[in-house]
Amino acid sequence: MPESAQQHAAKLAAAHAALRFVEPGMVVGLGSGTTATLFIQLLGERVQQGLQIQGIASSDSSEQLGRSLGIPITSFDQHRSIDVAIDGADEVAPGLALIKGGGGKLLREKIVASASKRFIIVADDTKLVPQLGRFPLPVEVIRMAVPLVTERLVTLGLKPVIRQAKDGSGPYLTDEGNILLDCHSDGIADAAKTAADIRAIVGVVEHGLFLNMAERVLLAGADGVRELTAGERW
Ligand code: 5RP
Repeated sequence: MPESAQQHAAKLAAAHAALRFVEPGMVVGLGSGTTATLFIQLLGERVQQGLQIQGIASSDSSEQLGRSLGIPITSFDQHRSIDVAIDGADEVAPGLALIKGGGGKLLREKIVASASKRFIIVADDTKLVPQLGRFPLPVEVIRMAVPLVTERLVTLGLKPVIRQAKDGSGPYLTDEGNILLDCHSDGIADAAKTAADIRAIVGVVEHGLFLNMAERVLLAGADGVRELTAGERW
């Protein structure tokens, strides 16, 4: 569904609010997706104005964008940790439980998040949900294991569908050449259990449940940008 002007403005406001978490000299995790892209563009402007930072990207596309804007790109070869990573999300539930991977980049996004001292989500308020699972949960799978993993996911009560490339060329392939299974459900009541059950399936590379990872969510809507933290109730 094409996004409305209002949703775009909210994403931009959230991206803008994230700039204050970036300080000179930092290594910054560059997320993926439309909201993270807005953040990278704003960060690129700051770099062109003289801000000295380095970026570690969570996708080939974010790396290319960062480089095109003059953001020096580094890697875990040079830096074992990231000062702050800014990324988007597909769903945000209480406790800052997230579904990510709508853009297909969940594996590197989770690697970047796991190496970050601060992991901050930028999103518009359509992403806020009382319980995860309305958005299909992406699971990244080694190609040969797809039939096996599919059966196991079904036994967990999920309805996996192989993601297709937008150009109609066949299955979507991740940056690592893996397949994504988008798992539909009637809601994920116990996200920690679902995460553990999926992780135990051989052939699964990673899943899009990001639990206990985000420090805060910068959530933008018609009333401006709210900051949600894990302990907060809404
Ligand atoms: C990509 C992601 C994105 O962060 C997520 O899909 C949100 O994207 P957008 O900001 O375009 O709504 O997880 O894998």
